[in-house]
Amino acid sequence: MTQHNIHVYYKNVSSEMIGPEHGISRAQFEQLARQTSPLIAELNRQRDSGQTAYRDLPYNTHYPEQVKTMAAQIRNDCENFVVLGIGGSALGNIALQSALNPALYNWDDGQRSGPRLFVFDNVDPHQFGSFLDWVGDRLDKTVFNVISKSGRTAETAAQMLVIFEMIRQKLGPDGLKKQVIATTDATSGTLRKIADAAALRTLEVPDGVGGRFSVLSPVGLLSAAVCGIDIDALLAGARAMDQRCKTEAFFENPAALNAAINWHLYNRGKHISVMMPYSHSLKDMADWYRQLWAESLGKSHDLQGGEVFVGPTPVNALGTTDQHSQVQLYRQGPNNKLFTFLQVKTFNRDVVIGPAPETAPELGYLAGQPMSRLLNAEKTATEYALLSDKRPCLTVLFDTIDAAAAGQFIYLYEVTTSLAGLLFNINAYDQPAVELGKDATFALMDKPGSEALAEKIRPVERMDEAFLI
Ligand code: PA5
Repeated sequence: MTQHNIHVYYKNVSSEMIGPEHGISRAQFEQLARQTSPLIAELNRQRDSGQTAYRDLPYNTHYPEQVKTMAAQIRNDCENFVVLGIGGSALGNIALQSALNPALYNWDDGQRSGPRLFVFDNVDPHQFGSFLDWVGDRLDKTVFNVISKSGRTAETAAQMLVIFEMIRQKLGPDGLKKQVIATTDATSGTLRKIADAAALRTLEVPDGVGGRFSVLSPVGLLSAAVCGIDIDALLAGARAMDQRCKTEAFFENPAALNAAINWHLYNRGKHISVMMPYSHSLKDMADWYRQLWAESLGKSHDLQGGEVFVGPTPVNALGTTDQHSQVQLYRQGPNNKLFTFLQVKTFNRDVVIGPAPETAPELGYLAGQPMSRLLNAEKTATEYALLSDKRPCLTVLFDTIDAAAAGQFIYLYEVTTSLAGLLFNINAYDQPAVELGKDATFALMDKPGSEALAEKIRPVERMDEAFLI
């Protein structure tokens, strides 16, 4: 096996392991190679013609330099860094922070090397109100990064307007310049207009990069750098994965294999794709993946305009927690799922389990064992149990979790998504169904110009008493 930080292990989707009805035979793998290799070439062509700008982010030198300069300033001046954004403007930030910083980073000053990080990707007044109560007296030590490519997203706009007003009231009109950074389109959009008028510091959401593909741009890099994550190593990891994902040699290309296996099994009734990290640090990577997969692949029409209504449903689970919640269903419910485990070979730290009391010698088998051994044993045990019920299982194996491995994982799944889009013959880069929800929100919030849509929504808005019990 060549030396890489992460590997995809796919034997446990094969018919050799789970039989011909649910598994993939050698001949089927060969057929997948023949079908997918031209699509790898097609994706490489799309990249060369500038259609997949996210592919080149790891090679951009301007963004990381700009971000590192800004991050150094922020680390000097502030104690709290707050991301206001949603979807692709938040999930990557959360995933990087959970993967690469200690679990109690925000709570324990001894465990963090930078400001606390908060990412608010909702408009829940209970949650946000509680934060406002806390941050009110700390505003001069808090920097807010408003991230919105479009600038018109209601959730981000609402959070921003609350914070702007609070800053104006407590710190005066110049407060915004010091405490707010806007990450948005370089030239157009609502947030760009606001930022320019208020002379805010800004970073750019690169042209042609959709929210869910933007984590390796200033969208995800700033909060990472502020919190001490090595963004150079992150980008180097992505570049290393790019080399592997470019090759048209199907069996050497982890993104191609991953996409083709997912696509093949979807076509054989595995409509649910469960990502189950056996690592708490990777829990939010699965959340990031869930958005990437769902928004990119859930489409009603193919590229020729025909109705298709395709898309694997991504589901997150967490090992071992969800063994005690989901595995009953996963083993004995419908065989309609593909499982992808995330497994870590060597954890950055370990915990040794204490001795068993004399009254409970039956716990003696645990005594003195590293906790990581138990976690990984449970992964194998769950996989074994699933395989015994002929459930297909993939594993993404991390040698260890570091910035380079995170960069590899992110890039692997971005390219996997692009290739899956080509296999499904759909546009992986738009999200028309999300846009309707955004417009309907405007209408329900009485935004001028939305009156006609508001009228159409009334029957849904008004609850029919006859059905309310
Ligand atoms: O992936 C996407 O494009 C979306 O999830 C967006 O990131 C999300 O809707 C937020 O959009 P914006 O950054 O324009 O506020």
